Amino acid sequence: MPAERSPIDTAKFAAARRAVDFVQDGMKLGLGTGSTAAWMVRCLAERVREEGLRVQGVPTSSRTADLARELGIPVVTLDEARWLDLTIDGADEFDSEFNLIKGGGAALLQEKIVATASDRMIVIADAAKEVAQLGAFPLPVEVIPFGWQSTRMLIEEALIGLDVLGREVTLRRSGEAPLLTDEKNYILDLHLTRIGHPRQLALTLNQIAGVVENGLFIDICDTVVVGHGDGRVTVR
Ligand code: 5RP
Repeated sequence: MPAERSPIDTAKFAAARRAVDFVQDGMKLGLGTGSTAAWMVRCLAERVREEGLRVQGVPTSSRTADLARELGIPVVTLDEARWLDLTIDGADEFDSEFNLIKGGGAALLQEKIVATASDRMIVIADAAKEVAQLGAFPLPVEVIPFGWQSTRMLIEEALIGLDVLGREVTLRRSGEAPLLTDEKNYILDLHLTRIGHPRQLALTLNQIAGVVENGLFIDICDTVVVGHGDGRVTVR
């Protein structure tokens, strides 16, 4: 007998399934990364299989690429697709203006490139991801390995002048070693607790040498599909 889904998985699945309704025949799609996005890829594959829906998917990580191929979704690179109709992806936090923190799965760089090369970005999330103010979830920042300790110092210095509560910056690890992103970079997690001005923070971080991209998605997402533990879905 299949294991019963937890309320959190029920919520993620419900949001993912609803978001796949937005997909139309012939679309070029950005395929997000994470457990919610994985549900979306499964639901999309079901429509491809059962309805003969024709789509091209641009995955935002090697994990998503493997899953999409395994389930029979045609996969192309962003350079082949050039521009996408829609990206569907998860998030670690979203606020009332649909600003996001992403990168919990270390895929923020490709996720941001793909989302900003799309006409539209839909975020799928369980209701617990909604926050009044971003920042409780540590903000991931992708940095070049060369001189990362200096980059971290520059980030810590920049945080002093900004409207944030915490200032601890940690290197994300995989076991003993630094975790490597798909682009072979490192992730620094910024434990800020509260981010007063997300746009200002995003701009400041991206001006620091060694920073490749940060996990704040500002003015990129236009729709959030929220799943609840009882299977209900709200589209905003
Ligand atoms: C990966 C991401 C994910 O979308 C985010 O971490 C949400 O993951 P999940 O759906 O597993 O909660 O940004 O880099």
